[in-house]
Amino acid sequence: MSSKAKILKRMEKGERLDGRKDFCSYIFDLKKEMRLSDWNMAAHSNSLIIAGSETTATVLSALTYYLCRTPQVYDRLKEEVRSRYKRSDEITSLTATFPYLTAVIHEALRIFPPIPFGMPRIVPPGGDTVDGMFIPGGVRIFLFFPSLPYHPLAGGGDKMC
Ligand code: HEM
Repeated sequence: MSSKAKILKRMEKGERLDGRKDFCSYIFDLKKEMRLSDWNMAAHSNSLIIAGSETTATVLSALTYYLCRTPQVYDRLKEEVRSRYKRSDEITSLTATFPYLTAVIHEALRIFPPIPFGMPRIVPPGGDTVDGMFIPGGVRIFLFFPSLPYHPLAGGGDKMC
């Protein structure tokens, strides 16, 4: 099914899917706020679905994998969430501010960045210096994301800490 057909089918089901908010519910809030037409949504569906769902699914899979391999982190995270809420329906985006969960998400993004390739940029006219090396203007450069998180400045290592 094309991404356009997917978003049109999801819009037919309304704001909530099976009574719960999902990925699209938040996009539909913005659709209203920005007064976007269904046609606008269909036109953007490719970027929204590819840019939004694969990235999110990838980091959530990595986060789950590393949490299972690191029980002390899992236990501390569980303690943070369960000490605040008794039931899952008490959790809303307005009340959910968890410092340790935020750190865990950042750490999963660091160890396993969902974007597997560098995002290209063009050096401005006159050139620029990166890490002591002069690069002439107009040259296309990119950062290789998968290696970046292992740099000592980003924490290094491949263990959830
Ligand atoms: C963990 C989740 C995500 C990660 C790691 C991620 C990563 C990125 C990165 C690195 C860029 C910059 C590309 C560049 O500058 O060349 C980007 C841009 C973008 N992302 Fe995401 N993203 C995520 C979630 C989402 C979601 C949920 C959506 C939409 C529903 C989305 C839509 C977009 C769009 C439309 C752009 C282009 C923005 C522009 O160029 O103005 N992303 N994303």
